[in-house]
Amino acid sequence: MTIADKTILVTGANRGIGQALVSEALSRGAGRVYAGTRQPLSHPDPRITPLILDVTSAAQIQAAAGQVESLDVLINNAGIWLSDDLSDRAALEQHLAVNLFGMYGVTQAFLPLLTRSRGAIVNNLSVNALAPLPLTPAYAISKAAAFSLTQSLRALWAGRGVRVHAVLTGPVDTDMTRGFDIPKSSAESVAAGIFDGVENGEEDIFPDPYSQAMADSWRGGAAKALERELAGFVAS
Ligand SMILES: NC(=O)c1ccc[n+]([C@@H]2O[C@H](COP(=O)([O-])OP(=O)(O)OC[C@H]3O[C@@H](n4cnc5c(N)ncnc54)[C@H](OP(=O)(O)O)[C@@H]3O)[C@@H](O)[C@H]2O)c1
Repeated sequence: MTIADKTILVTGANRGIGQALVSEALSRGAGRVYAGTRQPLSHPDPRITPLILDVTSAAQIQAAAGQVESLDVLINNAGIWLSDDLSDRAALEQHLAVNLFGMYGVTQAFLPLLTRSRGAIVNNLSVNALAPLPLTPAYAISKAAAFSLTQSLRALWAGRGVRVHAVLTGPVDTDMTRGFDIPKSSAESVAAGIFDGVENGEEDIFPDPYSQAMADSWRGGAAKALERELAGFVAS
């Protein structure tokens, strides 16, 4: 998979990693980039087509899908991150609505186009899908669930030629981590790491130095071996 001349859709495209993904797609020669945002977006590059897309709105997802004729790569990037201590069920539901069901709804809507193009789905998750930061447990629960969704989609759609990538991102310098005094990667470098992973065919992408430190042990570990073994039941 190369990005040049491809049609890409990015959700949460107006700021942070999503904005950087749009710029990186353009600089790699994408033919068309659909930029999904909650508010109207204007961009000088004629290859950009803005889409109003709140991923929690079934009506907006349906309308967006109706505006896209073909698609090679869907990047589920939109996400929220709120601090909580699991005492408030609403906080968990809010995270699941965006980070899990938003991803699910957008993916289901675009799977027919991705099947036609034998394209790719790229789910921007987090290292917190593997281990929670207990300052934001609801976020970690939603990312772990979205990782499981990603793994099942991968197994279910492999036979139809759709690749499904998990992006296990470490800390990135965006609005989401403002106020956290920890080492962070730039959104631009992470966007480049994500597209490198897609172009190299890595099913699990570790796009920054923090996450890369665990890439080898993840890929050679028991959980990955079990994922592959269980995925075999789909084929059989
Ligand atoms: N920053 C990190 O350290 C980090 C680490 C690991 C993973 N990630 C993941 O990377 C993704 C992007 O994060 P970021 O750091 O770029 O965060 P960000 O700067 O806070 O941007 C979040 C993006 O998601 C959009 N969004 C939120 N709710 C939405 C909804 N209901 N429908 C559509 N779009 C929605 C926001 O749009 P509005 O402007 O309209 O709010 C914004 O474009 C997220 O999935 C996040 O979990 C981030």
